[in-house]
Amino acid sequence: MKISPIFISLIATSLLIFSCRQEPAGLGYTASKSATGSTAMVVSPHPLASEVGRQILQKGGNAIDAAVAVQFAIAVVYPRAGNIGGGGLLVLRQAEGETVTLDYREKAPAAATRDMYLDSLDNIVPGLSTDGHLAVGVPGTVAGLIAAYDRYGGGLPFAELIQPAIDFAEKGFRVSITEAERLNTYQDAFRQYNTDDNPFVKDTPWQEGDLLRQPNLAKTLIRIRDEGRMGFYGGQTADYIVAEMKRGGGIITLDDLSDYQPTWRLPVTGTYKNYRIITMPPPSSGGIALVQLMKIMESYPLASMGFQTAASTHLMTEAERRVYADRAEHLGDMDFFPVPVDSLLKKQYLNSRMADFNPEAATPSAKILAGAIANTPEHFETTHTSVVDAQGNAVSVTTTLNGNFGSKVLVHGAGFFLNNEMDDFSAKPGVPNQFGLVGAEANAIAPGKRMLSSMTPTIVEKDGRLFLVLGAPGGSTIITAVFQVILNVTEFGMDLESAVNAGRFHHQWLPDQVMVEKGTLSPEVRQALEKMGHTFREVERMAVIKAIQRLPDGTLQGVGDRRNPDDDARGY
Ligand code: GLY
Repeated sequence: MKISPIFISLIATSLLIFSCRQEPAGLGYTASKSATGSTAMVVSPHPLASEVGRQILQKGGNAIDAAVAVQFAIAVVYPRAGNIGGGGLLVLRQAEGETVTLDYREKAPAAATRDMYLDSLDNIVPGLSTDGHLAVGVPGTVAGLIAAYDRYGGGLPFAELIQPAIDFAEKGFRVSITEAERLNTYQDAFRQYNTDDNPFVKDTPWQEGDLLRQPNLAKTLIRIRDEGRMGFYGGQTADYIVAEMKRGGGIITLDDLSDYQPTWRLPVTGTYKNYRIITMPPPSSGGIALVQLMKIMESYPLASMGFQTAASTHLMTEAERRVYADRAEHLGDMDFFPVPVDSLLKKQYLNSRMADFNPEAATPSAKILAGAIANTPEHFETTHTSVVDAQGNAVSVTTTLNGNFGSKVLVHGAGFFLNNEMDDFSAKPGVPNQFGLVGAEANAIAPGKRMLSSMTPTIVEKDGRLFLVLGAPGGSTIITAVFQVILNVTEFGMDLESAVNAGRFHHQWLPDQVMVEKGTLSPEVRQALEKMGHTFREVERMAVIKAIQRLPDGTLQGVGDRRNPDDDARGY
């Protein structure tokens, strides 16, 4: 059996860390929430994955090499969102300033139909688009990572990038308290949708430090290492996926798998003062919404209004409300629907969207556009990695299974979870999905179409130089989190750690309420906002940012979010 030098050195690093830090007993790793480096940096949702990335960078791999290695590692050590059965969106800024994005979002299978989640009375069948086999979109992650490596990899062999993931799957790793809790929450669902070879099912509750081995996943990763794309979209892995579909009434076929292709796209860009925002075009809604929000803010003296005062919170909330209304109406897969990108980003248009903004009062969402009542958003799960390498190349990549552990369907024999991304389509116009988001024709289901995403992998330049790399998991709250962290740094004078960890608020047009994290906004500010007509819903936490800032002297500051105890930044 092949054990990579990286794996051996990870164990050694873990032992070293163990000897110098107070870490949870027996875990073998400790999350480092903040790190500085003079050369390179990676921030990911798990210490073991960040360490893989750091070592790839230190061996001379570039940002794409590190991002690919980290993505495969989190498919093993962060199973609730890291994946090979899902999809992702990636933004690359090369050291010389060239930019490109890669869309490896899942697609609707060829047999998908517009009304596939409706009953004979045209009502949504609860759970059909979120749980089980019919919720699954054709996965894009493996094709995407291989395409990114083939075009922009820095020269390290692909086998070297995927090997740490294989080793984690074969040898096992110790689960953190957060992962153990998540695994315990979904035991019933795992049992409901799966056969008996599921390593995530346990008769006694998962505890921090338990060893999780995934032998079938290791074999799948070995097939990908040895056969490349065909190790997933053809041969034994594809047969396993199709057999799993047949077992549970899913519709993905061998042709769907072999036809899947990721797509290189030009980024959506926009300026904000002396900053340039480089972000993801559709099927992300996040890029357009973020640039809209930033451009709207440019017309207001935000810094002098102050951080989370009634005035600034009201302004930002009203902008968010309008931008999410646009999202619902206009955004979808550009390959299927003519998204009016240029119009949506025009200053004149954005000024007109704010024409009815009243600094003294909330504008009811019903007045902006008629809509429906939303359900309760929960289970924000997706995940993000930010990387900067020694040459100054930067990668911002968000990947997702959609919900925690996706559809909860683990491919029998192949050992990985399949996404439930079909729920990100608008299954019926005006009816909210699991994030409470509504949609229309632009995001209706069609064979081969990509479902709209809120993932917002983003890179920000300042005066033409790399400044910020950031993104987050968090469903519909990703966009407003990226927006607010950028403003925390650029307008409210915060260092990156404070900017990421500051409390956040979120308005998504429908439901007509401000979601606010516990402890965020002073009682006086809330009272003032309530007087203006805003209503609040408190939530424990929203999106979980992973960010890197290039400081004026060139030092890289990496920050993982307090909201995920496993978030980890490390550089050198
Ligand atoms: N699955 C969450 C998103 O793409 O927005």
